[in-house]
Amino acid sequence: MVNTHRKLILNIYCSAIILPQICTCSQFTSSSNDQYNENPGVFPVATNGEPFPWHELRLPTKVIPLHYDLFVHPNLTSLDFVASEKIEVLVRDTTQFIILHSHGLEIMNATLQSEEDLRYKKSGEKLTVLSYPAHQQIALLVPEKLMADLRYSVAIDFQAKLADGFEGFYKSTYRTLGGETRTIAVTDFEPTHARMAFPCFDEPLFKANFSIKIRRESRHIALSNMPKVKTIEREGGLLEDHFETTVKMSTYLVAYIVCDFASVSGTASSGVKVSIYASPDKWSQTHYALEASLKLLDFYENYFNIHYPLPKLDLVAIPDFESGAMENWGLVTYRETSLLFDPKTSSTSDKLWVTKVIAHELAHQWFGNLVTMEWWNDIWLNEGFATYMELISVNVTYPELQFDNIFLNNCFEVIKSDSLNSSRPVSKQAETPTQIQEMFDAISYKKGACLLNMLKDFLSEEKFKKGIIHYLKKFSYRNAKNDDLWSSLSNSCLESDFTSGGFCYSDSKTTSNTLTFLEENVEVKDIMTTWTRQKGIPLVVVEQEGRLLKLRQERFLNGVFRDDPEWGALQERYLWHIPVTYSTSSSNAIHRHLLTSKTDTLYLPEKTSWVKLNVDSNGYYIVHYEAHGWDQLIAVLNQNHTLLRPKDRIGLIHDAFQLVSIPTDVLKIVYSVGAQTTEGWNYLLEQYGLSLSGAEKNKILYALSTSKHQEKLIKLIDLGMEGKVIKTQDLASLLYAIARNPKGQQLAWNFVKENWTHLLERFELSSFPMRIIISGTTSHFSSKDELQEVKLFFESLQTQGSYLEVFQIVLETISKNIKWLEKNLPSLRNWLLISI
Ligand code: BES
Ligand code: ZN
Repeated sequence: MVNTHRKLILNIYCSAIILPQICTCSQFTSSSNDQYNENPGVFPVATNGEPFPWHELRLPTKVIPLHYDLFVHPNLTSLDFVASEKIEVLVRDTTQFIILHSHGLEIMNATLQSEEDLRYKKSGEKLTVLSYPAHQQIALLVPEKLMADLRYSVAIDFQAKLADGFEGFYKSTYRTLGGETRTIAVTDFEPTHARMAFPCFDEPLFKANFSIKIRRESRHIALSNMPKVKTIEREGGLLEDHFETTVKMSTYLVAYIVCDFASVSGTASSGVKVSIYASPDKWSQTHYALEASLKLLDFYENYFNIHYPLPKLDLVAIPDFESGAMENWGLVTYRETSLLFDPKTSSTSDKLWVTKVIAHELAHQWFGNLVTMEWWNDIWLNEGFATYMELISVNVTYPELQFDNIFLNNCFEVIKSDSLNSSRPVSKQAETPTQIQEMFDAISYKKGACLLNMLKDFLSEEKFKKGIIHYLKKFSYRNAKNDDLWSSLSNSCLESDFTSGGFCYSDSKTTSNTLTFLEENVEVKDIMTTWTRQKGIPLVVVEQEGRLLKLRQERFLNGVFRDDPEWGALQERYLWHIPVTYSTSSSNAIHRHLLTSKTDTLYLPEKTSWVKLNVDSNGYYIVHYEAHGWDQLIAVLNQNHTLLRPKDRIGLIHDAFQLVSIPTDVLKIVYSVGAQTTEGWNYLLEQYGLSLSGAEKNKILYALSTSKHQEKLIKLIDLGMEGKVIKTQDLASLLYAIARNPKGQQLAWNFVKENWTHLLERFELSSFPMRIIISGTTSHFSSKDELQEVKLFFESLQTQGSYLEVFQIVLETISKNIKWLEKNLPSLRNWLLISI
């Protein structure tokens, strides 16, 4: 929680319908007085010059939403929408104003009514609306103070243009086979963009029910989180779809789409109707997604022993989509390449990606949608879990894809950035929309998932599963924080507790939140906070001396060595509780030890010729074997490599070389060879425009970007900026690919510098594509001049007020590259001379 003002825990609010036995307290903290009246002088100025009564980025918690009635009418010809809403709120403490998020909306009218407060019983008391765009907030001022514990209804009429980018309520276009361009309207809200579509309490903790109505033309359909209840005819031949009321949910999960898409449907074992939607010409590519989503939905309902709570689940392929997919409850949206599978042009790795993305977004229906993090600082509770659940679900539903080997890549990949000093802790304060966006990175997704996998291995799969089910049941329709997860995982629960629908707590023999590991009491929280609150990754140095096994832990930093002057300072105060596992030559047993101090010595039960740490690479640590340790392992590998398990062998290679993220797709190579002649390149570009398969388009675009001719690379960038043949959504991956091409490195970087403002017209500064563009076009540099140039550019942006964490990461990566070259160039030169 990042509120800096005085907090008061209030014990009054509780959603009685959803929470059975245990909720007695509010999840909200609240400031104790109406700061506006006390000291209006310190407040910001609203657009009309009056003082705006709230100065914090986070909303006050005196007024909380219970229910939204939302009506939206998009016009796909004039590309705008008119809308109205009625928000039922509960006032928890007397107040003179209601603060809502609203971004880029024109508010036409706002009124207040209450059945419970007689002063507001007659309908439509007009409210004064102030706006403070810097915080994306509006204030509704009431003529007479609202009273505590009463319900009020706020009605707002508003309108806006359909957004140009990929956020809020935006337009997306596609071309039909007949060459016609068609427009659809679609929402994408996470993390802070619901406020672009309707004024709302746009923070994850403000869960409410939503009743949505969409007006549309008869040539379109409308989709939303819930099934349609009825369609009403309106004047001018328009139709209005009314959707069932949602369960209690956060604003970022609300979704609606107006389109003319076609679908395929099936029914899961529990009776939930699952449908896949795509533009009509791509309908034939939807079948694999239907098969996979039915299988995965069945899996999750069984695994969690919690029903997916909505009657339907739609998965929709959106032609213009910024990220890979978004888990809106009941209406999951996907980039076309993340959902559509064309058996003719898609490869096995494309299928794997589609399966992974579906598995990820369906996991969010529980981890994220049913139980949501309290605030964005803990987004890893959503994204780390969804990434971890990919492993659990795909291993069972599609064992032939051998997903556990692929999962390991997550850990290896994030280790690269986590072993730089510019990394960050898993949980980190995030206040502004930019800081919040930046939390969606490899640390939340991949480190989060790898830590969960390590914890599962430590606790045992059974105990871990029980713990997370406990967590999901206890916090259903509510919000949770790290400590809630740790205590759920510590509690020893019986199966009967779950089946009876109750919650269980630690049994009386153990103290609360304690479990027993090797007959010692261990707090999951004590272990896990060393992983979530500290950045970085430990190195375990091991030395075997007869039957003694000496262990030492230190912070692993890529490119920083023991003899570097900064080494000592960078190590200070870092200590992890490391669940060390090891196997030895003398038995198949997996030995376990919790390393909680800097050094420790273990006594091996038997004499043994080798010891291998981090069994199956389940731990998030790197291992170095001192003395003869490496030699002994190399000898085993030479003698009979099958004596070590495959994931142990992969881990050894990773630890030894610190590199691994990808077998290149054969088709990509074939296309790339074709792209080296002018005829081949032109032909591929033509095919790119014609292809209906996103997966194929990706491969062609990659191949086109490998051309040695700079004018061709410039043409690609021009097309990407134009956004017709190459969609703007693909510009980031295009620039990334061009920067990987030696002939394109400088070109891509120059382009970014010279077209910075044009790029910002297309993407938000902190958006994922923009961060890919920045790091993709710079982080391969390895000279001091290049470092200086990049530094100057970033500094010029900072003076204009733009700062991103990725700047620091890039600078550190380039410094590391320089250092690596300095250290290794002489030996590389020698080696090359000898080899020649
Ligand atoms: N919740 C995210 C989508 C998202 C990403 C929202 C960034 C806001 C900012 C979604 O569940 C997700 O993680 N999508 C991934 C794909 C997934 C398979 C890793 C993505 O978009 O890359
Ligand atoms: Zn996700």
